[in-house]
Amino acid sequence: MSAPGPAKIPQHVAIIMDGNGRWAKQRGLPRLEGHRRGVETVRTVVDTARELGIRYLTLYAFSAENWKRPGDEVSGLMGLLDFFLKRELNNLIKEKVRLRTIGRIDALPANVQRELARVKEATKHFTEWNLVLALNYGAQTEAADAARAYAEAVQAGREDPAEATWEKFSRYFSTGDLPEPDLLIRTSGELRLSNFLMLQLAYAELIFTPTLWPDFGRTDLVAAVEEYGRRERRYGATTEQIKAGAS
Ligand code: FPP
Repeated sequence: MSAPGPAKIPQHVAIIMDGNGRWAKQRGLPRLEGHRRGVETVRTVVDTARELGIRYLTLYAFSAENWKRPGDEVSGLMGLLDFFLKRELNNLIKEKVRLRTIGRIDALPANVQRELARVKEATKHFTEWNLVLALNYGAQTEAADAARAYAEAVQAGREDPAEATWEKFSRYFSTGDLPEPDLLIRTSGELRLSNFLMLQLAYAELIFTPTLWPDFGRTDLVAAVEEYGRRERRYGATTEQIKAGAS
């Protein structure tokens, strides 16, 4: 019999994977080596998330601002993504994990787009487990894209602006068919959201850990989920109301 896991499991965990560069620097290694180790952490975290029963895992793998990095680091990251997708295709099928993406993937190198399409197609029928990669993603761009799509729907008579609600508008976001994250984790001690899922995180619990992403392991994810379990989510209500609702 396996040991009992944390009592309350978030349905959707989003992670800002940070600290690969510092991890490498501390060891006198090139930054790309940190990213390479970061890919291994991704594998561990996907496994652990499934083991815990986390149905949606969203990873901030490349932000819309990451293009500003030195060219060799950007191409290195794209190479790692290509490697990861090729390596993980069979694992994701075996584990019944559906791969999805958010962000403007049409700006990624053609080979990466091809691999993404291949893995998404091969896993599209899975429903229980979802790995969402945020690639060339920025929340502000996403909001502008959603506003444009919504305006087009208004012009076409499919939406009535007088009836606008977040529930309706959020359907135009790239995350439109995903539940909103319950828990956000950021590694490496930085205390920022860095343009990641700004509106979708409205009610998420936030956990910032000093651990650098390549060092983040199974026990760190379990600890974060346990911490999540100790938090009281009130959604604007009072503790008493929450308790009365639960009884
Ligand atoms: C932040 O560390 C990390 C990134 C910008 C990229 C994250 C990418 C990976 C973990 C590997 C590729 C991902 C997949 C899914 C295959 P940083 O470079 O900003 O670290 P620093 O702040 O210490 O410099």
